[in-house]
Amino acid sequence: MPLRKRNLPDSHLGDTVLKDGTTRLQTYQRTRCSCLRKWTFYGLLLWCSLMVAGYFLSPFHAIKCEISILELKGPLTSNYKLAQGTRIPNLPGPECVVEDENGNLYTGLADGRVVRIQPTKDGSFENAKVENLTDGKVTNPLPATTHKLGNARPSGLRLHGDNLFVVDCVYGLYSINIRNLSFSMLVQISDVFPVLKFPNDLDISSNGNFVYFTDVDDDYSVAQIMYGVLSGKCSGRLLEYNISSKKLRVVTSQLCGANGVQVSIDKKSVIVSEMYRNRVTWIDILTGKHIRSVQMPMMPDGLTKINNNNYWIAGSQVPNSFAKFLFGTPMLRQSLAGFVPHDVLAIFVFVCSFDFRHNIVVEINDQGKIIHSMYDPYGNLTYGLAHATQLHDGRIALASYIAHFIGIVDPNILNIN
Ligand SMILES: *[C@@H]1O[C@H](CO)[C@@H](O)[C@H](O)[C@H]1NC(C)=O
Ligand SMILES: *[C@@H]1O[C@H](CO)[C@@H](O)[C@H](O)[C@H]1NC(C)=O
Ligand SMILES: *[C@@H]1O[C@H](CO)[C@@H](O)[C@H](O)[C@H]1NC(C)=O
Ligand SMILES: *[C@@H]1O[C@H](CO)[C@@H](O)[C@H](O)[C@H]1NC(C)=O
Repeated sequence: MPLRKRNLPDSHLGDTVLKDGTTRLQTYQRTRCSCLRKWTFYGLLLWCSLMVAGYFLSPFHAIKCEISILELKGPLTSNYKLAQGTRIPNLPGPECVVEDENGNLYTGLADGRVVRIQPTKDGSFENAKVENLTDGKVTNPLPATTHKLGNARPSGLRLHGDNLFVVDCVYGLYSINIRNLSFSMLVQISDVFPVLKFPNDLDISSNGNFVYFTDVDDDYSVAQIMYGVLSGKCSGRLLEYNISSKKLRVVTSQLCGANGVQVSIDKKSVIVSEMYRNRVTWIDILTGKHIRSVQMPMMPDGLTKINNNNYWIAGSQVPNSFAKFLFGTPMLRQSLAGFVPHDVLAIFVFVCSFDFRHNIVVEINDQGKIIHSMYDPYGNLTYGLAHATQLHDGRIALASYIAHFIGIVDPNILNIN
């Protein structure tokens, strides 16, 4: 007995039994079904074509890389040691913080400025005075790694004597005299071949003769960072700049996303964060050989030495199982980059695969042994942690590449563990 159904388009449809014995309803359901199948088929076809086209149009050839998800136990056990503190506001993207002997802080901002932050007499940053040391614009045009930002982007700083050395992702390496604010351009991006693409961080040798700085990889600027991350390639450089001779030397050019830099205690090696592999690596200064690597639970960023001669490694991108899948599937990464615009891809990858609110500082000794770690696991105080600096009085300054403030943690004030 044929059924009558309300939502059937029934103006000229009766429920007559057709010649082959089926009813109109069955025919309708069949067409709807085949219609769905048809669209699924077209959808899949479109997706496959995009993936194939993307694969060939991709800006890079992706290489396989394993990302391990470390269990947060032992010296990596999670806590809330960095979750409470104060903030120094109105500082967009303060990626790195250094302190001078008078307790002033210096940082580089997303709008290109390098600023000095003077605490009040009691050392408090609550009503700190912020002074511009540079205005973030470069008046005489220098070669730039990208014009997309429209200004400089100081990302790594170190102080030696009166000289504040600054690595800038857009323009290279410069120094600012902190007494008279005179500015010197030291290394332009075109001073080395291949040219610098993404200068990132630096350290100064203890005798003050050399600057060691990183260039993330040889293809992508800061404005195309996600292509670098997704390619997984290992063409990052560690460079040495001889301050008196002004000569540059490439120490190694095989780093997987060269980021934070720290000269080791024995002065024979430089420790570098390899952000595309979530590890830090000791590089022999003379030979450029990799001495040892230590896996991190996050994408490591800035490195600093602390007063017990250990190091702090700061970072925030903690990979999840999707990140593990994505990085284990180079074809997918290569294809996606071929048809998804860079900035959309950046949001997608950062939202789906890394937790940038999960901030971690790992303390490690010179033998590469992890001692303990400090966390702000839900982003209560900060997010996008890029660098942690131990201040002279034991407080900790937390820098971030995206937050609009510097976080200040006082370990003497009770922290929830
Ligand atoms: C520093 O530069 C910023 C941005 O250009 C500006 O808004 C601010 O007024 C400057 N501060 C001082 C003290 O000149
Ligand atoms: C700033 O001080 C440095 C070091 O004392 C000196 O070499 C430089 O000429 C000074 N610059 C200006 C503009 O006074
Ligand atoms: C650095 O430059 C100085 C001055 O030219 C020179 O004496 C020294 O040997 C150089 N050091 C290295 C490692 O190149
Ligand atoms: C951090 O924030 C979460 C909610 O976002 C809250 O439940 C937790 O108590 C906070 N922890 C600290 C240490 O402030």
